[in-house]
Amino acid sequence: MEDVRDIRIWPDPESLAEAAAKIFTENAVDAIAARGFFSAALSGGSTPRLFFHLLSSVYRNTINWEQVHLFWSDERAVPPDHEQSNFRIAYEELILGVPIPPENVHRIKGELDPAEAAREYEEELHRYFGDNGIPAFDLILLGVGEDGHTASLFPDVAILKEDVRHAVPSYSETMGNWRVTLTLPVLNNAWNILFLVAGKSKAGIIDKILGKGRSHLYPAGLVKPTHGRSIWLLDREAASGLDR
Ligand code: 6PG
Repeated sequence: MEDVRDIRIWPDPESLAEAAAKIFTENAVDAIAARGFFSAALSGGSTPRLFFHLLSSVYRNTINWEQVHLFWSDERAVPPDHEQSNFRIAYEELILGVPIPPENVHRIKGELDPAEAAREYEEELHRYFGDNGIPAFDLILLGVGEDGHTASLFPDVAILKEDVRHAVPSYSETMGNWRVTLTLPVLNNAWNILFLVAGKSKAGIIDKILGKGRSHLYPAGLVKPTHGRSIWLLDREAASGLDR
């Protein structure tokens, strides 16, 4: 299948976050109108912070949060109030500011042993999506690390080939910590993938993934939804390598 990527470049992180919040909101409104609910998996890291804030402020009243279900694409093996917790960032910048029912927030329990947390999260996925087939998120938000990782799928790890489990433990050599991550089959079964990438430090990896036809060498480059679409939202700095 031809690899047609939808790459959208914005002048700065602020306009990037605004574009992401608009796409998230449009997807949520459409999904709720069509099926009565909207399922989204959020990524961690620092880039989504402003995006989360916009959803809980400018776009707060455009979305019917009672029908939104939030999950995570990955989580560090830390308690939910830990400074490295992906849940904590979303909780502080988004969840505290919107009327989402607590039962609609499906966090990965980073405080548990990673294997146990992965098992429990997988059960939660199956409770929500059913257990006959791969969970199909309406939208999955993803970032990209400088090594080309996405979620907690790092380069050259065995779990990149995982095609049975939907959530697994993952160890980050660079950060020296355990995590739990969605697996590639789940990412590629999403209806919408939204990559959010900002900053000069990402220009090199973005050029390698999107600019030189070597995307298959990096986990983020392996994310190609089988029936959905992926949008790459980049700020000008992250996209600067693509101009060459
Ligand atoms: C994580 C994230 C990870 C993140 C990238 C980019 O738990 O670390 O899910 O995949 O999205 O590392 O992070 P920044 O936005 O901080 O650059």
